[in-house]
Amino acid sequence: MLLISDRMLIRGGRPLTGRVRTQGAKNAALPVMAAALLLKGRRLRLSRVPDLQDIHTMADLLRHLGAEIEFKGGTMTIDVPEELKWETPSDLVRKMRASSLVLGPLVARCGKAVLPLPGGCAIGSRPIDFHLRALTRMGAEIDLEQGSVHARTDGLSATRINFDFPSVGATENILMTAALTEGETTIENAAREPEIVNLAESLRAMGAAIEGDGTGTILVRGKKYLDSAEVTIIPDRIEASTYLLAGVITRGHVRVDGIDPEYLEALTAKLEEAGAPVTASSDSVEVDCRGLNWNGVTLKTLPYPGFPTDVQPQIMAALCLADGTSVIHESVFDSRYMHVGEFRRMGCKIDIQGNTVVIAGVPKVSGAEVHASDLRAGAALILLGLAAEGETVVCSLKHVWRGYENLMGKLRSLGADIELLPDGESGDKFDGAGD
Ligand code: UD1
Repeated sequence: MLLISDRMLIRGGRPLTGRVRTQGAKNAALPVMAAALLLKGRRLRLSRVPDLQDIHTMADLLRHLGAEIEFKGGTMTIDVPEELKWETPSDLVRKMRASSLVLGPLVARCGKAVLPLPGGCAIGSRPIDFHLRALTRMGAEIDLEQGSVHARTDGLSATRINFDFPSVGATENILMTAALTEGETTIENAAREPEIVNLAESLRAMGAAIEGDGTGTILVRGKKYLDSAEVTIIPDRIEASTYLLAGVITRGHVRVDGIDPEYLEALTAKLEEAGAPVTASSDSVEVDCRGLNWNGVTLKTLPYPGFPTDVQPQIMAALCLADGTSVIHESVFDSRYMHVGEFRRMGCKIDIQGNTVVIAGVPKVSGAEVHASDLRAGAALILLGLAAEGETVVCSLKHVWRGYENLMGKLRSLGADIELLPDGESGDKFDGAGD
């Protein structure tokens, strides 16, 4: 029996109304922090860094490798010494799968790296074979010894990499590696996420020449040394999507500020298809669902610019309360439906067929004690709780703290009736990690 760090009590049924400001993107900040390892005796300064558990885990990992880090008020400075350690400790790597983002930078900078192989997690098996194959193609020798990846090289060479799938992490790892490898590396079937563009911008600010980020082909002309730089982290599209869906599921009126509406197009197109009116300005998106007739829709998760898998659990929560049937096909991860069992305990009608779920919309759901299996599943359970009749207790919130800054404050500012309960002993049902 594990002691749970926190639980949230939600008294549901209040429409959420108001405005929230988007945090900096967790999934952009993590690779940009890892990119600091490419520097030698230089400094990387980041602004709009969200204050999240995962960010602290990455900071601890970089400190372990030798970096000095200050983090205050959203600004982080990372001072990287001339000499770095290249062995990563398994306790930190196991906490967060994004730790594997230091592999490429360490190999490029130190000529060697040891990384405990991340295992599967609550959302799928998540191997890193694309990362390893691409590093091998660039000239790294890779062995697996006692569950850890041991990589070494006498010198990497620029080459052509063609990914089987546009993996976000593999694209980031190779982009960083190529930035410190002299010559021209081409990455084909690259991921096109805005977070990749933010990383490329950071590497350009450090002196690398990169073209094509945001498309499927990225061209990198790497440099022998990279220089100090200042970088601003882009807004978090997954956090913004979660608050918009809080407006939808409670039939409220929510505006999210400080977000580029283009990042949310796959979501806002679905919201409009389902009947939710969306208004966008140059840096805000708003949904007004008061008196809304919200209909079921069909959607498929895909790499960007398709519908994000990291919003799948949250939109599923909202679709459980739609009129009619919805179908969701998860095509990015192989088992991202662990939240479904908890949803059913609140009265949702969901049938799982392989990677597809069929949802029969219900007019209401009821409060229950439910457990977060991972970060976005936790967010989705909170959304359901906000819409449910009666009281919901969401347990295992430790997953949620990994991705949502000031979640309590932001939800309360929208009118949510929520409170944190003292630590309980109800057991952690899942050993999740999630994104
Ligand atoms: C990143 C995001 C995560 C998001 C995911 C997909 C970060 C820190 N995390 O995770 O929030 O859910 O993108 O948008 O940015 N795959 C392989 N072999 C590999 C690499 C990936 O088979 O070497 C598979 C994965 O198992 C998965 C799919 O490819 O099924 C997508 O994974 P990937 O895009 O790499 O996701 P992450 O970078 O881990």
